[in-house]
Amino acid sequence: MTFLKSVAVSPKPWAKLGEHPFDVAAIAAIVGSEAPLRFASGMTIFVGDNGSGKSTLLEALAVNLGMNAEGGTRGMQFATRDDTTSALHHHLRVSRSHHTPQDAFFLRAESFFNVATAIEDYRSEEFYGGRSLHERSHGESFIDLVVHRFARRGLYLLDEPEAALSVHGQLQLIVRLHDLVAEGCQFVMATHSPLLMAFPGATIYQFGAAGPRPTTWADIDTVHITTDFLDDPAGFLDELLTDD
Ligand SMILES: Nc1ncnc2c1ncn2[C@@H]1O[C@H](COP(=O)(O)OP(=O)(O)OP(=O)(O)O)[C@@H](O)[C@H]1O
Ligand SMILES: [Mg+2]
Repeated sequence: MTFLKSVAVSPKPWAKLGEHPFDVAAIAAIVGSEAPLRFASGMTIFVGDNGSGKSTLLEALAVNLGMNAEGGTRGMQFATRDDTTSALHHHLRVSRSHHTPQDAFFLRAESFFNVATAIEDYRSEEFYGGRSLHERSHGESFIDLVVHRFARRGLYLLDEPEAALSVHGQLQLIVRLHDLVAEGCQFVMATHSPLLMAFPGATIYQFGAAGPRPTTWADIDTVHITTDFLDDPAGFLDELLTDD
């Protein structure tokens, strides 16, 4: 099921187009574009180099939908850093379906610790397997959250969920997310993990100078480089480390 159908960057007259975030190439490329980014399936994946704008768009979507910019649910309002949220959320045109998500959560790896603290403050550990998330390892607490908290017909925005996870943990995550998509959840996820990028049936956008462009797993640079590396790690590194 999809709750979000598409998003477009449609700046208000007062937008400062020369400044961040409109100076990020992938965002600049779609400013005012008639063709919105379509969330065509239950899993949409953003891929691209560091600094290509994935988190900027994901965070703007989260804030536009009323979620906390640092992560968490719609009801969870906390701030632990100076406000670095970009203005982009004011300038998004988000198209939604007539379905309403029963739950919504924005999860960013870099502030997961703070989300875990907020969850304790809200005394809602019962939703997370009954234990404080701080008494679990980073990866364990992340898996607890996804297993115990995420539920059917929810809308979830995930920024680099692989950050805490072993390869085995990432495979566990794929199984859980696959079940949740089958139960009517929708995910939008930024990732650098070639494993997560292989999610069956995902709609994938590559962020780059041409904007977020639809792509497939087999065409992603990260996948090619990882495959070449794993085919011959010694040879790959030998070439990389040899001065010309
Ligand atoms: N508050 C800010 N002010 C100015 N520039 C910013 C701000 N936040 C991010 N940027 C810049 O915007 C660009 C996009 O950043 P963003 O965090 O969206 O990248 P990303 O694709 O998520 O990268 P990564 O894969 O490293 O997480 C980067 O060049 C970054 O330096
Ligand atoms: Mg990012």
